[in-house]
Amino acid sequence: MNVLGISGSMRRNGNTAMLVAAILDRVREAGIETEYLTLADMDIQPCTGCEACKDAKWCVLEDDDWGAVAQKMIDCEVLVIGAPTYYYDINGQTKNLIDRTYSLYHDRRLSGRGGVAVTVCADRGCERSLETLEGFLNTHGFSYLGYVCGRGYNPGDVQKDKWAMKKASAVANAIVRYLRPED
Ligand SMILES: Cc1cc2nc3c(=O)[nH]c(=O)nc-3n(C[C@H](O)[C@H](O)[C@H](O)COP(=O)(O)O)c2cc1C
Repeated sequence: MNVLGISGSMRRNGNTAMLVAAILDRVREAGIETEYLTLADMDIQPCTGCEACKDAKWCVLEDDDWGAVAQKMIDCEVLVIGAPTYYYDINGQTKNLIDRTYSLYHDRRLSGRGGVAVTVCADRGCERSLETLEGFLNTHGFSYLGYVCGRGYNPGDVQKDKWAMKKASAVANAIVRYLRPED
């Protein structure tokens, strides 16, 4: 069993990272293996729309970090994908990652996994970020296990958002139930 958490924020220790980590911590407490990735130091180039992936079944841009992240997404059983809200939507780095999973869509290579969406905003715009993340998960055929929308501006602020931290625990419990329905 493996739960992969990805923070798409360019802030290595920002609010998105904290919310994703809070979910993974709780899942790990239940004895389930987790892995965490931050896109903060990664080079994830945008999709060029070349459509070559329809034949290649993989993104043909090979000089960046996308392939390693994509392979981990393929290998996981549950994906927790988190992104900060920029201009009422997810940030560019996360969108680049998602757009290039088009190459995995042709053969539905991500379908059948569990999925969780996480986003953080300072004040407004979480709703559209969530829709974007849900659009990604639904299009690929993930089983949607829940979401967390946190509030925070400076790194660490989200830990004061009691509702979000509570929701992170609830979502983690949903992941555990999904992976261990017999418990
Ligand atoms: C370029 C940029 C755009 C932002 N746009 C919004 C926005 O539309 N709505 C909002 O509430 N906060 C916005 N914020 C604030 C971030 O969502 C907020 O600081 C969040 O906690 C960042 O998460 P992180 O620490 O995981 O990077 C923006 C921040 C930046 C840098």
